[in-house]
Amino acid sequence: MHILVTGGAGYIGSHVCKALSQKGYIPVTLDNLSLGHRSAVKWGPFVEGDILDAPLLNALCRTYPFKGAIHLAALSNVRESLQTPLSYYRNNVVGSLTLLETLQKQGIAYSVLSSTCAIYGLPKQTSIDEDHAKNPINIYGKSKWMVEQMGQSISQTYGMHFATLRYFNAAGADLEGEIGESHDPETHLIPLLIQTALKKRPHFTLFGSDHATPDGTPIRDFIHVTDLAEAHIKALEWMRENNKNLTLN
Ligand SMILES: NC(=O)c1ccc[n+]([C@@H]2O[C@H](COP(=O)([O-])OP(=O)(O)OC[C@H]3O[C@@H](n4cnc5c(N)ncnc54)[C@H](O)[C@@H]3O)[C@@H](O)[C@H]2O)c1
Repeated sequence: MHILVTGGAGYIGSHVCKALSQKGYIPVTLDNLSLGHRSAVKWGPFVEGDILDAPLLNALCRTYPFKGAIHLAALSNVRESLQTPLSYYRNNVVGSLTLLETLQKQGIAYSVLSSTCAIYGLPKQTSIDEDHAKNPINIYGKSKWMVEQMGQSISQTYGMHFATLRYFNAAGADLEGEIGESHDPETHLIPLLIQTALKKRPHFTLFGSDHATPDGTPIRDFIHVTDLAEAHIKALEWMRENNKNLTLN
């Protein structure tokens, strides 16, 4: 069974492709390699291209009999999103809209959307559940919240189903060492810590000192990337069995 994976050459996407392949699916990666790596695509066909390219998306859907899509392609650097908001809205919002239009036109009814805890903004309380107010404080979070809302509002009209997964922080690497996290520049906490321990960076900076935590520094939630990859497949299968939408932190 073919599954379209946008952003499949990226960190989470490549782990999703491996998990799909282990479960007997054929992951077809669409990635423009703006941030991902060709060498990370090992478990199915690779198409170099952009989610903004509607003719390419349509051709791809005619080539492979997709039974679902897992949409991970996005720009996701919070600081950069504040410096270049238009490129974030274009890539993440217009790109997702282009993809959703194609999926609708091609009758692909089940999609997993990768969202983020950044849609909540500053938490009113912890733990944060899915009903917590959505008040993103950066352009990245806003762009992801817009995509979620697009999915919610078109689902019924077109009989499309969406599983929206709001990841907090993905961490770790494939347990067999076949793939891992490789961002340039790296902005994620754990790789930065490791690079500092390996003396590839002079120092490590933890931002924030006045949080309501024992020492004032921030506490984050992490999920192992292989668990997260498996969650995508479970979400896809649950949607197909239950014909319902799903939104999960
Ligand atoms: N890493 C995390 O902790 C985390 C947390 C919350 C949400 N997310 C979301 O998960 C998804 C994957 O994140 P990641 O950490 O693997 O990032 P990543 O940068 O490693 O992967 C994203 C991939 O998408 C590709 N891409 C970007 N724009 C594209 C476009 N227009 N067309 C085609 N391909 C495009 C990039 O080349 C890259 O391979 C993103 O949507 C991100 O917002 C990640």
